[in-house]
Amino acid sequence: MSKQSPLDIPKRSRSTAGQPGTEPSRRFCVAPMMDWTTPHYRYFARLLSRHTLLYTEMVTTGALIHGDTERLLRHNAAEYPLALQLGGSDPKELAHCARLAEQYGFSEVNLNVGCPSDRVQNNRIGACLMEHPDKVAEGVRAMIEATHLPVTVKHRIGINGRETWEDLCEFVDKVSAAGCRTFIVHARIAVLEGLSPKENRDIPPLKYNWVYQLKQKYPHLEIIINGGIKTFSECHEHLQHTDGVMLGREAYHNPWLLAGVDPEFFGSETPITSRHDALTAMYPFIQSELDRGVFLGHITRHLLGLFHGMPGGRQFRRHISENAHKPGAGLEVVQAALGKVRLLQPQTEAATSA
Ligand SMILES: Cc1cc2nc3c(=O)[nH]c(=O)nc-3n(C[C@H](O)[C@H](O)[C@H](O)COP(=O)(O)O)c2cc1C
Repeated sequence: MSKQSPLDIPKRSRSTAGQPGTEPSRRFCVAPMMDWTTPHYRYFARLLSRHTLLYTEMVTTGALIHGDTERLLRHNAAEYPLALQLGGSDPKELAHCARLAEQYGFSEVNLNVGCPSDRVQNNRIGACLMEHPDKVAEGVRAMIEATHLPVTVKHRIGINGRETWEDLCEFVDKVSAAGCRTFIVHARIAVLEGLSPKENRDIPPLKYNWVYQLKQKYPHLEIIINGGIKTFSECHEHLQHTDGVMLGREAYHNPWLLAGVDPEFFGSETPITSRHDALTAMYPFIQSELDRGVFLGHITRHLLGLFHGMPGGRQFRRHISENAHKPGAGLEVVQAALGKVRLLQPQTEAATSA
């Protein structure tokens, strides 16, 4: 594992994205997702869209401070614009980690106030913090004082027992008074007892109207909507009422969607016109990761959805799933999987991106 990797960026070799005064566009974002929005996924996503704002998986302040900081913050300059998501509540620790985010070149630092897992609750981070708006405000203020980066908050519309419109407004009032200008709102409450994190992404009903009403009530704040969004036409509808959209599961399971984002939302050309090209563009990166000892399956698990819904897509997926974990598996597995997919014309591809 000693070889240089495209993911080993030297500290402060950085994009301009992290410099004071440069604000990334949040018109279209991919959500932070543990185990999913890894550096490998993000490298791939960036090949498909130059403008989408990407988020890391959540990293806790404890892990960053006491663990392997270099490994946890490892990314490729090609991934910019890239936001680091933090889980934490201690203002000093949050400030320290916000400084690290700037030092390492991230474009934004985001605080997680939406994750409902027990592990996270025990550490008093994530969605349970919605019960303590003053604490969140204190943390946000400390982060803002520590960094020039934009500091944003991703939260729910409430948690069980604290789920009225007034509760939500109190949260936004206090956190915005601390200096936060951008709120990424998952449009459902989190139920902190009795539902698993997965159920908490599906069962509490979506209330998009609440997010729209937040934008009406706080027009000076940037409000990004998240939860259950799947298509570009849904995105356009949300963009009538909010400043940006954030997609999670759909962007992961159907990554080709991202190839349509630049033309659709940023008025620029797509960086890549076919799924075939998207996959082959990954080859040098895959090879360099393999050369430093990374297991093929760790990279290819993020590519499985590329041919989602296309002829041969299932065979592509199956070939990779059955072979990428075998000892010594290399690029030939991906090449053979690609051989299972009927080649499509770029025009056909574009029509099916969303
Ligand atoms: C596998 C998985 C992991 C997630 N991890 C995080 C996380 O680390 N931080 C966070 O704020 N949200 C996390 N989420 C929630 C997503 O960011 C997003 O809010 C949620 O999936 C709803 O959006 P969607 O319906 O577009 O997927 C995760 C979701 C999934 C599916």
